[in-house]
Amino acid sequence: MKIVGKYPTTRLRRIRNSEWMRRLTSENNISIDDLILPIFIRDGKNKVDKIKTMPGVFRYSVDKLSLIMNKAKKMKIPMVAFFPYTPSNKKDKDGSEALNKDNLICRSIKYAKKYYPNIGIMCDVALDPYTSHGHDGVLINNDVDNDKTIKILVKQALLQAEMGCDVLAPSDMMDGRIGEIRKALDKKNFKNISIISYAAKYASNFYGPFRDAVGSTKNLKSNKKSYQMDFRNSNEAFREIGLDIREGADIVMVKPGLPYLDIIKNIKDNFKIPVFAYQVSGEYSLIKFGINKGLIKDEAILESLLAFKRAGASAIITYFALDLAKKLKN
Ligand code: PBG
Repeated sequence: MKIVGKYPTTRLRRIRNSEWMRRLTSENNISIDDLILPIFIRDGKNKVDKIKTMPGVFRYSVDKLSLIMNKAKKMKIPMVAFFPYTPSNKKDKDGSEALNKDNLICRSIKYAKKYYPNIGIMCDVALDPYTSHGHDGVLINNDVDNDKTIKILVKQALLQAEMGCDVLAPSDMMDGRIGEIRKALDKKNFKNISIISYAAKYASNFYGPFRDAVGSTKNLKSNKKSYQMDFRNSNEAFREIGLDIREGADIVMVKPGLPYLDIIKNIKDNFKIPVFAYQVSGEYSLIKFGINKGLIKDEAILESLLAFKRAGASAIITYFALDLAKKLKN
């Protein structure tokens, strides 16, 4: 890159010194079209719980989902992502509740597709909300067994597809699951259901509040380093991405978000496929608590989300989706 110009003939402050000029010369922007809203669902009736570690985020019982779905509709949020808080008496070692056609996710998909047909629905494919040990798959000799887990994930994916889910998002990090899920979907003629692969998903410390939100913190006694990625690595992420694209992923995701902007940028430059970023729960809560304590201004929300656009993300899954949408509307 060649930098031309020289002070005093070149003064970069000339393109910064008024609001209208900054608008004209801005290189990146974010819009409501870029936002995906995650929603937590719980059992019971007439329930809306606060989540202590995520101020401003709630869990809704299915009959109360309209509270947040109406906001998403009004703001024209393109897609929401559902996550279940499974009661502990429904968790077991194989996560069998994942395959119950009346589970929280299945009921939410049916409800949302009936009353909000124009909002995309995305659901995770992974077993951690349903397992008594909190891992994303089934354990054999204390390690998540790849191929046995895939067999269950394929069933979970098909069930969610049957319920009307538009986008399946395998977040489990098993090797080869995208190909198996795609093959099973196509065989059942679900050719239009897309797959967003959590392809570069790191074994991260930033998922803490989410595990609280879905009630898996107490269950998980170890870590997920035998399947989620090592945060020292980037080449490995590109190998993950390449394999998942070849197996049939329509969109790839990088997760967490802000600490991994280098990965997003590199994928965008090299693979020419839509890349989504997940601004995860820990990132959300750090910013939110910072704002609530008066340490930082709430424009930090926009700044954090715009960073993803600069890096090349097409869309961002963020617990700030409604806050930002409201700001952008005004
Ligand atoms: C589960 C899953 C996790 C998140 C999304 N899907 C947590 C994990 O892998 O332990 C994290 C999202 C967040 O922190 O906001 N497969």
